[in-house]
Amino acid sequence: MSGPFRLGDSLLLVDGKGRHYLVKLVEGGEFHYHRGVVPHAELVGRSEGCWVTSTGGGRLLVLRPRLADYILKMQRGAQVVYPKDIGPILVWADIAPGMTVLEAGTGSGALAMALARAVGAGGRVVSVERRPDHGAHARRAIRRWFGEIPPQLELREGEVEDVVGEIRPERLVLDLPEPWHVVTPAAEHQPGGAVFCAYLPTIPQVQTLVEALRSSGRFAEIETFETLHRSWKVAGRSVRPDHQMVGHTGFVTVARRVEARVDDVGSATDDAGGADPQGVTAR
Ligand SMILES: C[S@@+](CC[C@H](N)C(=O)[O-])C[C@H]1O[C@@H](n2cnc3c(N)ncnc32)[C@H](O)[C@@H]1O
Repeated sequence: MSGPFRLGDSLLLVDGKGRHYLVKLVEGGEFHYHRGVVPHAELVGRSEGCWVTSTGGGRLLVLRPRLADYILKMQRGAQVVYPKDIGPILVWADIAPGMTVLEAGTGSGALAMALARAVGAGGRVVSVERRPDHGAHARRAIRRWFGEIPPQLELREGEVEDVVGEIRPERLVLDLPEPWHVVTPAAEHQPGGAVFCAYLPTIPQVQTLVEALRSSGRFAEIETFETLHRSWKVAGRSVRPDHQMVGHTGFVTVARRVEARVDDVGSATDDAGGADPQGVTAR
């Protein structure tokens, strides 16, 4: 990930209009675009931040991609979590070096890569995927980014519900359509104070999940939010928001695993239906 470019490296080529191209350097390879060709041999041995000229006279800036660049450009199987949401998920699920995280579904591997980086070499991420084709796709994408499957990341095929009891995760991060099926195993097996985090595209799904978290009586500090990311054009006197933005991706819901309140035992619901009515907030 540093030093002069070598065969096998993934590079980001940026053209004069700011368009991004992801290129993997291979022996005898060529990058083709509307302004001609750049042989990969011209890039090997060069350094980040250099400029190359294509056969058609196009100037291209050459960088190593950031993880966000890679996620936006990599080939996808399942829909990825966008970088604008990965940042808040890492912060509000409180992913830190050395932690044990259970993630599902692996999908295209975008969130798994970010989690593996965040826990670092001393942590552990177990990522579970029910579809073998998605799992294989994610494996390829992750290998291309890290050069290997990093030792702290374990990719498993199966149903996440079946794994919670074995892992007892401090942090559970779910990007799958029906996370409410994971609430009972999480209530039984996550340690006190652990974080349950789910990413969902629609509000009916969020409602079902939050009701399941509340009625379990074992989760508090339940919060749901979305993140709007609006980029700006800054050019001379033209300083304004871009005309286009991604209007919607998904909602993040986070909750903390807690002990059952003594006065909740035997009653599934109270006003807020949860272990800590004061903790049930929307920000
Ligand atoms: C939207 S994708 C996840 C994308 C992933 N977060 C990423 O950033 O690339 C949802 C995935 O969850 C998987 N899935 C759904 N329910 C599951 C379950 N109960 N256990 C494991 N995987 C599941 C699906 O097969 C699908 O690949």
